[in-house]
Amino acid sequence: MQDPEVTANLESRYWPQSIDRIEEYITSMKPPENVFLAIMLKGISYTNGVTGKLGILEADKSEHTHLGNIRLGPINWQHSFAEIGLVIGIKKLWGQGYGTEAISLVRDYAFDKLSLHKLTAGCYASNPASIRAFEKAGFKREGILHSQYHTGWGQYTDEVVLGCLAEEIHPDYSFRLSPEVAACIASQERVRREQKENK
Ligand SMILES: CC(C)(COP(=O)(O)OP(=O)(O)OC[C@H]1O[C@@H](n2cnc3c(N)ncnc32)[C@H](O)[C@@H]1OP(=O)(O)O)[C@@H](O)C(=O)NCCC(=O)NCCS
Repeated sequence: MQDPEVTANLESRYWPQSIDRIEEYITSMKPPENVFLAIMLKGISYTNGVTGKLGILEADKSEHTHLGNIRLGPINWQHSFAEIGLVIGIKKLWGQGYGTEAISLVRDYAFDKLSLHKLTAGCYASNPASIRAFEKAGFKREGILHSQYHTGWGQYTDEVVLGCLAEEIHPDYSFRLSPEVAACIASQERVRREQKENK
């Protein structure tokens, strides 16, 4: 996270990165608003300078390599959508499909296990690799926010907003709600019914 090439299109570039700061960030990425995962490569070892201290890596560190992280969040449970953001920190592994695979796995987890309805991603227009990785994972371009992100002295780039609907991935998708939101809607309907009966 200290390599300017890796962080060029990430908000983290604006703050000095240290193990303590990264641990603090990961600790703040708590459910139910966030699912924060390490992207691990099975059975191949690459040295990346910063491994071993983050709790999430401990169990697998002897056999797996930590390539990066992926965040599903913030999750909006009321409207059943969430954002995805990721980083592959080992540059020599860029362009080999790991980003697309990580996005696809988290996409399936979000739709199949969490019953979310929509996923979004916001990519810098100056970062075609991220746009392409999301498109390969089934996301479609939904719009452009012009001159949204500062990329250098007085220079700005557009944000490309991408989205992916559960029914686009699963044609047999049927509407489901989280138990918390279902309970809230049921309670609102009860109040409405009572108000109608009392008129
Ligand atoms: C963006 C990122 C996650 C992509 O991961 P990755 O493992 O390299 O992605 P993939 O290999 O699955 O796919 C990348 C695609 O972009 C393409 N690509 C790479 N550079 C490109 C460029 N300059 N122009 C157009 N396409 C490009 C690759 O060829 C590949 O497409 P292909 O399979 O059709 O050839 C990774 O580069 C990264 O972590 N970058 C730093 C952090 C970052 O920018 N995160 C995204 C924030 S939204």
